[in-house]
Amino acid sequence: MKILVIGSGAREHSLCYAIKRSSLTSALYAMPGNYGISEIAKCININIGDFEKIYEFINSNLIELVVVGPEEPLVNGIVNFLLDKNIKVFGPNKFAAQLEGSKGFMKDLCKQNNIPTATYEKFSDLETAMKYLENQSFPIVIKANGLAAGKGVTIAEDKKTAKDALQDIFNGKFGPEMDVVIEEFMDGEEASYFVCCDGKDFISLESAQDHKRIGENDEGPNTGGMGAYSPAPIFTDEIKQQVDKEIIKPTLNALAELGHPYKGVLYAGLMIQNNHAKLVEYNIRFGDPECQVLMLRMKSDIVELMLECIDGKIKRNTLNWENDYCATVVMASDGYPGQFEKRTEIKGLDKISKDDSLQIFHASTIKEEGKVLANGGRVLSVTGKASSLSEALNKTYLEINKIDWPKGYYRRDIGQKGLR
Ligand code: AMP
Ligand code: GLY
Repeated sequence: MKILVIGSGAREHSLCYAIKRSSLTSALYAMPGNYGISEIAKCININIGDFEKIYEFINSNLIELVVVGPEEPLVNGIVNFLLDKNIKVFGPNKFAAQLEGSKGFMKDLCKQNNIPTATYEKFSDLETAMKYLENQSFPIVIKANGLAAGKGVTIAEDKKTAKDALQDIFNGKFGPEMDVVIEEFMDGEEASYFVCCDGKDFISLESAQDHKRIGENDEGPNTGGMGAYSPAPIFTDEIKQQVDKEIIKPTLNALAELGHPYKGVLYAGLMIQNNHAKLVEYNIRFGDPECQVLMLRMKSDIVELMLECIDGKIKRNTLNWENDYCATVVMASDGYPGQFEKRTEIKGLDKISKDDSLQIFHASTIKEEGKVLANGGRVLSVTGKASSLSEALNKTYLEINKIDWPKGYYRRDIGQKGLR
């Protein structure tokens, strides 16, 4: 099959890596991709918001399967657009994508179906939202309702911070027509859990734990994710059963009843405390960097699985996973998630030998005049696998030491929670 992956992050690089290993793949394209991806797929420089242009490419190159990495095209309806043109595409439709695209939609669906999550209220004007804060206890969580690339959430320790966050949202900081969800703060430890859905049934992928903050010991501002490992020991079999029964199944049933069955990957962000999980958020796609660790561990043919989901018939009960641990450490441009210098040179990548237990997934690299340059915030995702988490981490950090990038930054404490 000729397959097109949409996106340009390390997540998409790892998807390309897994798709390339499938016996069903005859040609692989990435749109727009990046330098790292270009080593295994043909990169096509088309804006992924321009659906007509994407379709033109698909049509003239006889692409048979499209895999969508990031949320934005999904929320904007790329699946409906391509299905109308009879193109096979892996991901949820526009209606189902509201699980990530609208916090209000997701929270209402949870409330209507008794899905455990933080209690909340929605507000569409500043004054009412401000008034509501008067009688609340803190910390409290303020969320911009739409897609805000992970930046629209404030954990407010006090009333002033909460009010400032409300002002920001209603002043249009995250988009012109944003309203807000104000919700209860949940304590506990977070884990990410992934399932693949065919509209009726689902199959579990594995769990992982992300590291969202920029600084060691989870300090400093939130980022897209600075590292991950899989599996997450906190996500026990018992928790998995609870989550499947109380969170995943009722969500999929509710969407099917609404006439919009969910197809694709569903990512549940969970808060676990006292051996019980609550839903923090849904994402309608693989996580980044969680995808990188899942793709190195997955032994089943991912293209087969994606086709089964699209065709509405998952044929199996389990997937094959490498029975070991995988860790990924994100290397970012120094200064991220704030200001950082672009086009800094990365040396030493050629000293690293890659195999099925060590991969470097690229997020925003370019190659010019023989030099590899960093061209964005998160840049590399160094990913290693071994029979224990501590060995996987050692292996990963050992390779990082070979990378000569003075303008790069990475956390040295990825996976410590999992070791404890
Ligand atoms: P979201 O965009 O909804 O995933 O939120 C981003 C991050 O904010 C989550 O990964 C959590 O770390 C944190 N967060 C969101 N909602 C809550 C909540 N109700 N209680 C505690 N932490 C939360
Ligand atoms: N790792 C967090 C996310 O992909 O949203």
